[in-house]
This record gives sequence, C-alpha cells and structure tokens, in this order.
Amino acid sequence: MFKIGALVSGGGTNLQAILDAIDRGEIPGAQVVTVISSRADAYALERAKKHGIDAVVLSKKDFASADDLMEAMIGHLRKMEVDLVVLAGFMTVLTPAFIQAFANRIINIHPSLIPSFCGDGFYGLKVHEAALAKGVKVTGATVHFVNEETDGGPILLQKAVQVQEGDTAEVLQKRVMEEAEWKIFPEAIRLICSGAVEVVDGRVRRTTR
Ligand code: GAR
Repeated sequence: MFKIGALVSGGGTNLQAILDAIDRGEIPGAQVVTVISSRADAYALERAKKHGIDAVVLSKKDFASADDLMEAMIGHLRKMEVDLVVLAGFMTVLTPAFIQAFANRIINIHPSLIPSFCGDGFYGLKVHEAALAKGVKVTGATVHFVNEETDGGPILLQKAVQVQEGDTAEVLQKRVMEEAEWKIFPEAIRLICSGAVEVVDGRVRRTTR
C-alpha cells in the first residue's frame, strides 16, 4: 500500500479529486491515510471524515513556533507511515526541517503555469487576480515537487487553460480547477505511486520501468 498524507487549509476540492480518482481505481495501490488541516473550519476536514479518513487539525496558533508546529506535523505523518505528502491547498509555509524530513516526497498543486504568478504571496485567488491583471490569454496549473524555494521545485505536470473575455478571478479559478487541477493532481500521484517518475539532479525524469 502506498500511503498518502494530505495537507489542507480550505475547501478541499483537490483532496476530493484525489479521493474520487482512488475510488474509481485510477491510482492502484494508493490510499489517503491521513489529512492534516491548518484550520479547524476547513471544509476539507468534512470530506476526510465522510471518507472515514483520519483527520487532525494542527494550527500555528496552538504552537509556540513554526518549528514546533512542523515537528508535530512530521511526527504525525511518520506515525501514519506516509510515503508521499500532498499539499492540496495548504496555505502554511513549510520549514526547511519539514522539507528535508520528506525530501522529494512532497508535491504541491499551484494554480498557474509556473514560473508565472508563483512564489511568495501568490496563492489561491490572488494568483488568478494577477493573471487577469497581466492580461495573459493562457494560464493553467502545475504539479511540482517541493523544495526550499517557494513554488520552485522540479515540475512534474502542467496543463494549460484558456482565459476568456470577461473572466473574473472566481470564474477563472473554477475553470483552472475543473480543466487542470483536478486532472493533473491525481495523475501526478499515479505516476509517483507507480514508480514512473523520479527526481534526478533537481529535475523530474520518467523512469524506464
Ligand atoms: C487550489 O486552487 C490550489 O491550486 C491553490 O489553492 C486552491 C485550494 O483549493 N493552491 C495554492 O495557491 C498554493 N500556492 P481546494 O482547497 O479546493 O483544493
């Protein structure tokens, strides 16, 4: 069994897309064994509960420091024997200690075509607001491995989405989720779970297996 730990902060539609793909048999051998939320009011927690998945809230405000919070997260994910950590709309910055604890075993979904509209301060709706302000005609989503540079780790999958005349940030966000995020995130997990990809010299490589 390939065990996934999902980190969430919000609605959890990407978590849902992963759970649905697993239920449909599209990610053989994979199971989401735990969900960690940074917020007690995240709807993602309900989605986990409905699926009978272990779910915990580990929030900054309950810890003296970011290091203590990360220590608790590392401890929980190790206890659950997680093979892969997926950031499914997780809005807390990970510390180097966390990233090192799961080196090349953390992936993130970002709602733009990296390297556009990414890095510190670009998250959620802000990404789409920036894309519309710039007037790009094509945007999309990216799944990448997480390293110490915000949104700067090796890119695994990307999918482009058209911007349409009259789009608001909310409308664009929904289209990017439906056409890109909910497809490439489960697909990325399938590739990792099946051993089809590996990180070599800071880049993602398809294995020959
Ligand atoms: C998604 O659009 C995800 O790409 C984005 O937050 C949203 C979470 O939605 N993540 C980031 O901006 C990370 N920098 P969800 O909770 O419904 O999956």
